[in-house]
Parts: sequence; structure tokens; C-alpha cells
Amino acid sequence: MSNVSNSANRRIVLAARPIGVPSAGNFRLETQAVPVPSQGQMLLRTVYLSLDPYMRGRMSDAPSYAPPVEVGNVMVGSTVSRVEQSQHPDFAVGDWILSQNGWQDYAVSDGKGVFNLGALLEHPSSALGVLGMPGFTAYMGLLEIGQPKAGETVVVAAATGAVGSVVGQIAKLKGCRVVGVAGGAEKCRSAVEELGFDVCLDHRDPALKELLAKACPKGIDVYFESVGGVVFDAVLPLLNTRARIPLCGMIAHYNDTALPQGPDRSAQLMGTFLKKRIRLQGFIIFDDYGPRFPEFQKQMGAWLAAGKIKYREDVVDGLEHAPEAFMGLLEGKNFGKLVVRVGAETA
Ligand SMILES: NC(=O)c1ccc[n+]([C@@H]2O[C@H](COP(=O)([O-])OP(=O)(O)OC[C@H]3O[C@@H](n4cnc5c(N)ncnc54)[C@H](OP(=O)(O)O)[C@@H]3O)[C@@H](O)[C@H]2O)c1
Repeated sequence: MSNVSNSANRRIVLAARPIGVPSAGNFRLETQAVPVPSQGQMLLRTVYLSLDPYMRGRMSDAPSYAPPVEVGNVMVGSTVSRVEQSQHPDFAVGDWILSQNGWQDYAVSDGKGVFNLGALLEHPSSALGVLGMPGFTAYMGLLEIGQPKAGETVVVAAATGAVGSVVGQIAKLKGCRVVGVAGGAEKCRSAVEELGFDVCLDHRDPALKELLAKACPKGIDVYFESVGGVVFDAVLPLLNTRARIPLCGMIAHYNDTALPQGPDRSAQLMGTFLKKRIRLQGFIIFDDYGPRFPEFQKQMGAWLAAGKIKYREDVVDGLEHAPEAFMGLLEGKNFGKLVVRVGAETA
């Protein structure tokens, strides 16, 4: 047993479901008593909270692959925590735990569905990014669905984000030409100079279509799709016969409230897919590839140790800033994996 650091548990709940772009009024900060673990349980203190695009889907009650957060309930989210008190034989005070505490300081757990990361952890927050769900998404989506081969051209959307940055670097390790698409000159510079992409283009550039065609003189063999919108429109005419599209996300559309205006282009889209025999496959990372997480951890750990994969984190201090940081994620304000430092790393 040890003392509890704070006397109160701050938590951020869903105050109301957003219509379109989320605003501060969709969230509410509440304070409760710190929960007390019973026999067979432990008290977890959140150190890092992951903020991810999928949370926009959980704020909505539209049908999806996972149930929504109920209004008044704490927002869901992956966390890296420390064991503050333990009445569980397999977990000791000070252990680092990867779990789903959500947007709050404390949670009680019976140990089911959590990963014990041990007592010593060099970069705890990386378990939420490059070594966690986003890195795993990049690894499986690119290698299993994208099937990149040396010499092929891979285009990566949201290129400097948690998933995209890893996709592009793995594609480079596989000997591909990698073209990123990101928001703004600074992100594009970083994709080329720090991550080693061949080219990176700004999706806000009105000449994106022409610039992408120039950057992909042999067409596109793999398009790792995380965005939709104008990026997909620029990619579509450049896809080669037998191109593969891992459909990871469509962040440009998460706040949509209606179908876009304009002509119905589904026949053109299906026709292109048919004639070019394009394979597009959506995937939900842990539902589809969960058992392969240990294989990924081993490979990514080796790449990181060898300096072959680099990562960048965007760390925001304070649980109370999570709503603002999350809203920024949907507008591209994050630069790298977005995490909130909720509490001190020290046990
Ligand atoms: N299928 C799965 O299992 C799975 C798992 C994890 C993530 N995902 C998906 O993968 C994608 C990336 O997730 P992540 O965690 O790596 O997030 P992230 O890339 O770190 O952050 C989101 C980025 O999306 C870009 N973005 C936001 N709005 C945009 C818009 N309207 N148009 C173009 N780009 C926009 C922004 O980058 P720029 O500034 O560069 O535009 C923003 O920084 C998301 O679509 C997410 O839903 C799917």
C-alpha cells in the first residue's frame, strides 16, 4: 500500500453529443472522491492519456464498431498509469500499466484487460504511440493490406501523425518511394528531413493534384488512407493497376453532418476500382489483428533500438486541457502523437 497523491479524482465527462465540430460545451470537468480498491483490485493513477481521432466517433451515437460514450460518462481513452495502491497479487505499487482509464486521474482495476509494463520504463508515453495502438495500426495496415514491394510508390496521408509517420518510415525500410501528405510547410519539412520521406506535400496547397502527379511519376501502388476529402481526390487518378489501399481512417469527414454537395461520383469510383483491380480494405486494428500485437512490439522495439524508426510526441500538460487538445487534433494542430501528461511520472 502507499499513500494516494491527490484527495480528489478529476474526470472529464461527455456533457452533450456534438453536432458537427465539437466544442468546449461538449465536455465537463467533474471532481469525485478517489475510488478505493477492494481485495483483488488496484488503484491506478493516470500519468499519460492518449488522445486519438476515434474518440470523435465515441462522442456520437451513430452506429459504429464500438458503443458510444453515454452522456454524463467519463470520456474513453488509453492511459499509461502507475499502481498507487495494490490489493492484487500480480501488481505491485509503482508498476506501469497500460489500460483504458479514460480521461481521469484515477481508476480502480481488477487487472483484467490491462498490460503490466513493469516497474522500469524508459519512455512510458511511447506505449500509447509508436509502441502502442497507432504504431501497430501503421505496421499491420501497411504490411498486411498495403503489401509494399521495393521500388513501389507509397503515398501516406496525415504523414507526420502517430500512424502516418510510422507508415512512411516502414515503407522506406521496405525500399519504397514514399510521398507524404500533411498540413503545412513545417510538417512537410519534418517528414522529409527528420523521417526520411522522399517528398511531402501540403494538402492545403491548391495545386495538390498537379504536385502529387509530379511526385509520383510512376503512379501510386499503395495509398495509406487516413483522411479522405481532397487528398483522396488527388490520389484516385494516379492509382496504378492492382494498387492497394489500406483504409485506416477518414478524419476529414469525422465532423460531417450530411453527405457533401455535388454530383454522385460512386460510379466513377467503382469503375476505377474495377478497371484497375484496386484492393481497398478497411480495418479496425485490435479487432482484426489483436493476436499479432506481440510480434509488432518485438519488431518495433528492435527498429527503435537500432534507430531505424523515429517518433515525435506532442505532449500537453494537464487533464483540464484535454478537450482543447482533442479539438485541435481534429484540425491538425497536433504535431506528432498527441498525449496529455495528467500526473507526475514518479511513483
Ligand atoms: N482503423 C484503425 O484501427 C485506426 C487506428 C488508429 C488510427 N486510425 C485512424 O488513422 C488516422 C490517423 O490517426 P492518428 O492517431 O495517427 O492521428 P494523427 O495523424 O496524429 O492526428 C490527426 C491528423 O489528421 C490530420 N487531419 C485532421 N483533419 C484533417 C483534414 N480535414 N484533412 C486532412 N488532414 C486532416 C491532421 O494532420 P495534418 O495537419 O497533417 O493535416 C492531424 O494532425 C485517423 O483517421 C484515425 O481515425 C485508425
